[in-house]
Amino acid sequence: MEIHSEFLDALTPSSIRSITAKIRDKASEGIQVISFAGGLPSKEFFPIEDIRKINDQIFDEEGGDSIQYAASDGYDPLRKYLVEFMKRYQVTDIDYKNILITSGAQQGLAYLSKGLITPGSVVVVEGTSYPGALDTFRAYGASIVGVEMDGDGMRMDRLETVLRENQGKVPFIYTIADFQNPTGCSMSLERRKQLVELAEKYDTFVVEDGPYSLISFNGEVMPAIKSFDRYGRVIYSGSTSKTIAPGLRIGWLIADHASIQKLVYLKMRDDLQVNNIAQRQVYHYMKDCDFDGHLRMVTDVYRRRRDVMAKAVKESFPAGTKLLLPGGGLFMWVELPEKADTLEMFDYVFQKNIAYVPGVFFRPDGSGKNTMRLNFSTTSEETIQKSIPILGEMICQYLETHA
Ligand SMILES: Cc1ncc(COP(=O)(O)O)c(C=O)c1O
Repeated sequence: MEIHSEFLDALTPSSIRSITAKIRDKASEGIQVISFAGGLPSKEFFPIEDIRKINDQIFDEEGGDSIQYAASDGYDPLRKYLVEFMKRYQVTDIDYKNILITSGAQQGLAYLSKGLITPGSVVVVEGTSYPGALDTFRAYGASIVGVEMDGDGMRMDRLETVLRENQGKVPFIYTIADFQNPTGCSMSLERRKQLVELAEKYDTFVVEDGPYSLISFNGEVMPAIKSFDRYGRVIYSGSTSKTIAPGLRIGWLIADHASIQKLVYLKMRDDLQVNNIAQRQVYHYMKDCDFDGHLRMVTDVYRRRRDVMAKAVKESFPAGTKLLLPGGGLFMWVELPEKADTLEMFDYVFQKNIAYVPGVFFRPDGSGKNTMRLNFSTTSEETIQKSIPILGEMICQYLETHA
């Protein structure tokens, strides 16, 4: 007998997973797909040797305590370390009790959804946004409204209109302010300040999701929206998935003490606590190893991959293609000529064992059929150089024969 409920029966596989499933099917036939579809950091740079040594150190120093049950709010040394770490984003006005350790940023988003979304809720997001968050907000019953963006991120005039039209129904505004997934755009300083003021004016919250902030190609890190928060209106979500390794599943939420306490109660009902060893691995790695050197090394590699990809796209994609050159992060956003339909085109291109993500997956209103997201972090410069022209050729052929 199959379990069922309204909630369970409404759940769907994530849109991007449908692409990864196709890639896995090919892999099971022994075919290697060149995937520009993923959102992964490159595993070749995971600090495995450091983590191996840290594991030994943890067991030598802490023995069984390191794998005993522990507090739901997280490993205190890590929470205290994160208080210092957040100064990189100019977030200074917090202590460790403002921090809840989560199993990745995704769990934090799920907790905020569970806790704040009620029937009739409207979550406001950037017009092009991370589907993993959108799927979670929807799963807990929210409808989603996207706000038009430009090169400086979400347009505040449009946001204000949406907030006015949905007054009383918006539990939070969700934003990825730095090197956004998928567009690579960052929100300007001015808009960060305006966003906090609008959240206060319309009595709502901002959920600031910042997994890409340190993957900055010029090394600059912008002040978080949280750093402008005078009213306790911004909940910050951090993660080491893109900077250390996603399988460790370490993220954190920052909010005022009372809110964190409520989220801790939620966590107690959910999974009791985050994996002890992973919290210690991340703590020791950030504190004792060359985390900054590691960041410099990976961002340098990603920047070079971005450059090779941008050049190849410009040279081989059809006339009229526009691309946004990201200043950081893992993704490049490409707009093909108007007549293209990247969802329809996917299987045609996939014949050549190349994958991308159709842009419609990122748009809550289903627009953007001529757009796509390309990931550049996991493919070598050489392979990018070889495969992007093939992708370009397939797109040109498709447009000639199908569109
Ligand atoms: C914007 C954004 N937020 C959150 C996540 C999930 O992060 P985590 O691995 O920390 O759960 C991702 C992963 O792609 C992401 O792009």
